[in-house]
Amino acid sequence: MTALFSAQGLSKERHPQSRAIELVSVEQYADWLATQAEFTRNWLTSQSFQGRATQFALLPDAGGQCNRVVAVIGGDTPYAIAHLPKLLPKGHYHRCPHSTAALSTDNLLLGWGLGAYRFERYLAKTEPAILHAEGQSARAESVLTASLEVRDWINTPTEHMGPDELEQAVRAIGADFQAKVSSICGEELLVENFPTIHAVGRAAHRAPRLIRLDWGDDAHPHVVLCGKGVCFDTGGLNIKAADGMRNMKKDMGGAAHALGLARLLMQNTVPVRLTLLIAAVENAIAGNAFRPGDVITTRQGLSVEIDNTDAEGRLVLADALALAGELKPDLIMDFATLTGAARIALGPDLPALFSNQDAVARDYLAAGESEHDPLWQMPLWQPYLGYLKSNVADLANSGASKMAGCMTAALFLQRFVPTETAWMHLDVYSWNDSERPGKPAGGEAQGLRAAFRFLQKKYDHRYFTDS
Ligand code: BES
Ligand code: ZN
Ligand code: ZN
Repeated sequence: MTALFSAQGLSKERHPQSRAIELVSVEQYADWLATQAEFTRNWLTSQSFQGRATQFALLPDAGGQCNRVVAVIGGDTPYAIAHLPKLLPKGHYHRCPHSTAALSTDNLLLGWGLGAYRFERYLAKTEPAILHAEGQSARAESVLTASLEVRDWINTPTEHMGPDELEQAVRAIGADFQAKVSSICGEELLVENFPTIHAVGRAAHRAPRLIRLDWGDDAHPHVVLCGKGVCFDTGGLNIKAADGMRNMKKDMGGAAHALGLARLLMQNTVPVRLTLLIAAVENAIAGNAFRPGDVITTRQGLSVEIDNTDAEGRLVLADALALAGELKPDLIMDFATLTGAARIALGPDLPALFSNQDAVARDYLAAGESEHDPLWQMPLWQPYLGYLKSNVADLANSGASKMAGCMTAALFLQRFVPTETAWMHLDVYSWNDSERPGKPAGGEAQGLRAAFRFLQKKYDHRYFTDS
């Protein structure tokens, strides 16, 4: 844990040569400026420093040494300061105790850590600017750790993050919290009746599997988290074009989210009985690949005609969700990089949320607002299930129409969840296409902080009792 902490650009100890960062809100900037020495006022005005949100400046002393920074804060969010770790000169920093801008310690720590992140597994290590992590916030630290782990898992290329490595990641986290981890692998999937996971993953040289983690007290409400762990999505025989395949190492992003969320629940001892189910496969191409036109009888009993082998995420989730339903939990949440259509509808930054219970969805959305981790609800518009008609099976996994693709995918999943069980599905991009403050290019956790807050508020009455 300590190693990760310093990699995040944070340190527990205050360095003797640490520079003070004075956080000033946009509204307070003019008043603050008026209190500064003439030298500082001239320094800032001569650089046309206007006190806009996210503007910052190094402030020298009379000898030209820079021992102070002013940073203008637009609001109390992690992203208010997330640009600083990569833009400030290397060195140590701390929040100036005279800072007047409202920025919670959690947002300071989280924003700095999210902004300092670089995926350095295959690079020479660099040292970002380091912030003294003031105060004790075990919760914020765990949220940061989980968010960065999710990024790491997604960024790791498939060669080093296949179904087996994904299982090892689950086992490592499980061991930290005395959870029980098991895996049903390869041909055993057929014996144990997970035919869709087997069919999608059978062409890969690395065995498909259903990874399961169980933790917590049986007397507590049961929450099941499901993740799409497609470690690479070639599209299968309906092969993707080069552009569409380029980033498909991230197709296990849903699994990464589910695992990160599981860590958060365990580390913060949220009083739930937790089950994590990850369907881990590679959607590969070989002579034994599943084909368009094949019919698979799923675990739940519904037969599915394969219209397109690239609509594989909903297939592997179908069997995982069927098992989730058998456990009769209080709540099922699944996370999946399920459709390109969700991105067409909402763009890369807003995960699409679907739920069979609007009240539950509303609480998740509200948690997203509080956490500055937005999501957007989309409808389970039942008539669109008509797009998935098959002449030879109960259901097809896709159809000729390109209409409402993220909804038809969600409606497909819904068929595998008992109607009486509260269920939420997040179609999540899990990726930043470009580099932005606090949102480095590459793998990203989206809707994770929101999910944790939602679950903590729902199940852990030590938290958020007032709002
Ligand atoms: N993994 C993809 C979805 C995806 C693509 C997510 C790009 C994020 C970015 C998924 O398995 C897929 O290929 N879906 C198809 C479904 C279609 C064949 C019905 C899609 O969305 O095009
Ligand atoms: Zn696909
Ligand atoms: Zn996929």
